[in-house]
Amino acid sequence: MTARLIDGKAIAQSLREGIRTQVAALTAEGRRAPGLAVVIVGEDPASQIYVRNKHLATVAAGMHSVMKVLPATVTQAQLIAVVEALNEDPHVDGILVQLPLPRHIDSKAVIDAIAVEKDVDGFSPENLGLLAQRTPRLRPCTPYGCMKMLEASGIDPSGMDAVVLGQSNIVGRPAALELLMKGATVTICHSRTRDLPGHVRRADLVVAGIGKPEFVLGEWIKPGAVVLDVGINRLPSGKLVGDVQFEAAKERASWITPVPGGVGPMTIAMLIQNTLEAYQLREGIRV
Ligand code: GUN
Repeated sequence: MTARLIDGKAIAQSLREGIRTQVAALTAEGRRAPGLAVVIVGEDPASQIYVRNKHLATVAAGMHSVMKVLPATVTQAQLIAVVEALNEDPHVDGILVQLPLPRHIDSKAVIDAIAVEKDVDGFSPENLGLLAQRTPRLRPCTPYGCMKMLEASGIDPSGMDAVVLGQSNIVGRPAALELLMKGATVTICHSRTRDLPGHVRRADLVVAGIGKPEFVLGEWIKPGAVVLDVGINRLPSGKLVGDVQFEAAKERASWITPVPGGVGPMTIAMLIQNTLEAYQLREGIRV
């Protein structure tokens, strides 16, 4: 079997177009546009690209974009003061502090400073807790994007054996909660998992978010499984690859996401979606 591709780029484009239409309708009614603030600390080249793409997507959706570029030498107190000012800014509905932060800054303290109603990353204990209780409010963008991709492809995780590789707060844990909420039987594998290939071989659905290039061998994939590859890794040659051996996995899976053009574009689309949702929550607009 050769897998069907889940075209994240196309699904993201259509979601973003839908959001742009909704924003245009809001502003046509005389309402203010939703606003997203992105804070970047230091000059990590990958983070600079991500943040630029987030800014461009915000503007393309017709939203108000605020960028705060801070030097790597900024103190934690100064960074938290910037976040607190954004908490108070009435034109800002969503706040995202790009991770990773320099080592002298405690990321948790900074994330905890973001007002929960503006936490468009869905990283706060409250938003993650609401997802764990099956009453999500603002949901972490990458796992939320994975669920949208399944939905757009007509894949229902209910009853599936799902294996999530990686236990990060950004991807693995919330992805497991999302899949559990949809009725999958979920296993989270991590660096101490015994026999990781054995878990993958039994999986009807695999979400790979470990950040290791082509770590998941194609031969581990159960014939007919669905593969969502969250990894974006640059090889020394400059080529971008996921966490899964794409060419080999594609011959066994029923559906697979490519890298690039898979989960990556969805993360940005869901950030814009979350900004709209945060705006609707703050403005008391029911959807
Ligand atoms: N760095 C890598 N991914 C993310 C993300 O989803 N949100 C933030 N804030 N930083 C990141």
